[in-house]
Amino acid sequence: MNVPFSSNRPTTNDLEAFWMPFTSNRQFKKAPRFFVAADRMHYVTDDGRRVMDGTSGLWCVNAGHRRPKIAEAIRRQLDELDFAGTFQMGHPKAFECASKLVNIAPAGFDHVFFTNSGSESVDTALKIALAYHRAKGNAAKVRLIGRERGYHGVNLGGTSVGGIGANRKMFGALVAGVDHLRHTHDLARNAFSRGEPEHGTELADDLERLAVLHDPSSIAAVIVEPVACSTGVLVPPKGYLKRLAAICAKHDILLIFDEVITAFGRLGAPFAAHYFSISPDIITTAKGITNGAVPMGAVFVKRHIHDALMTGPEKAIELAQGCTYSGHPVACATCIATLDTYREEGLLTRAAELAPYWEEAVHSLQGLPHVIDIRNIGLIGAIEFEPTPGEPGKRAYERYLEAFKSGLLVRATGDIIALAPPLIIEKSEIDELIGVMTKVLKSAN
Ligand SMILES: Cc1ncc(COP(=O)(O)O)c(C=O)c1O
Repeated sequence: MNVPFSSNRPTTNDLEAFWMPFTSNRQFKKAPRFFVAADRMHYVTDDGRRVMDGTSGLWCVNAGHRRPKIAEAIRRQLDELDFAGTFQMGHPKAFECASKLVNIAPAGFDHVFFTNSGSESVDTALKIALAYHRAKGNAAKVRLIGRERGYHGVNLGGTSVGGIGANRKMFGALVAGVDHLRHTHDLARNAFSRGEPEHGTELADDLERLAVLHDPSSIAAVIVEPVACSTGVLVPPKGYLKRLAAICAKHDILLIFDEVITAFGRLGAPFAAHYFSISPDIITTAKGITNGAVPMGAVFVKRHIHDALMTGPEKAIELAQGCTYSGHPVACATCIATLDTYREEGLLTRAAELAPYWEEAVHSLQGLPHVIDIRNIGLIGAIEFEPTPGEPGKRAYERYLEAFKSGLLVRATGDIIALAPPLIIEKSEIDELIGVMTKVLKSAN
């Protein structure tokens, strides 16, 4: 691999200033791990080791690392126009980028609102849902429904609709008027399912329970990840999402698909909405939108929602929402080059070709010590371990460290290891990845 990198590790004192996100800072800084370069399927550590990227960075580097076309687009954009805002002003790349995005989006999604991250996309989507109902004269529709074990980023709205206890407990009462559906994880009935599990369609009826409790006239929107990835890859039971969509439609509740991970090919279709043949009202994205190279997010909105807000005097700002960097020129140029790369290499559907091979490979880990479940969908996999008594999370974390030492980056969350390699992975590399996991799981306690 021809990658320029410097092997200068910062001194211990240098590690202090950076308060690392979602990290056990004190533990990490005693035994840090550094990547200093990357190329396609691999990272390079500061001590010169190649580590296969089994998680597409943080679920974002779908086309693999350091793709030349994307890097070139960034360089060219910086030479041409480094920044121009999009408040009452425009630049061509933002419009070109939005048009290209709606071209690959599911039918009916013909408007895009730009943000800088998944978290901003989520809070923007929640605000659009509230504003929509108000514009339609349903100002009492203010409640937001998330789901237990859901992850919707770190802003206050996303934290509130999110359903991971550890992410919520430090932050007080959070946003008022939020409730949660039950999660869909059911090890007793669904362990070792391949793809969508058989049992649990009826869990969607939990929305009917909340509709009775709060009255549908007070509920604005339901937000779910089509596949709940950050919480350890919870694949929706067969028919669950369809039933949820039907209940939303019945009660005039907007359905928001949080596709920050699933958009841009992860399941083998451009969006999870395509994959599950479901038409939500709003879709949130980020991550793969720029192949992870530059921060960007986008909220896809159906025409009727957009149009409901295009009222009042023409000089009025229709939606009081936006970020300094919404539609940043460099992000837009990166996104356009990313979409070109996905198209040229067939990456938005490649996971569908690889999925059967991937499924077999991941499920070959069944029977290894302490493995109590294996899940898969598209090019995503998860291995769940029986927790060590009194030490939740220990087993997955130890195996994550061991995999890293053995040349593979995986993601540990609770007692689950998640896998989501770049969509360019070859079958021989899937074998290699599973080979490392097999060795790690066999040798661990
Ligand atoms: C489904 C989902 N929504 C939102 C987010 C937040 O995205 P970001 O970290 O870019 O703010 C994530 C991040 O993993 C996610 O998986």
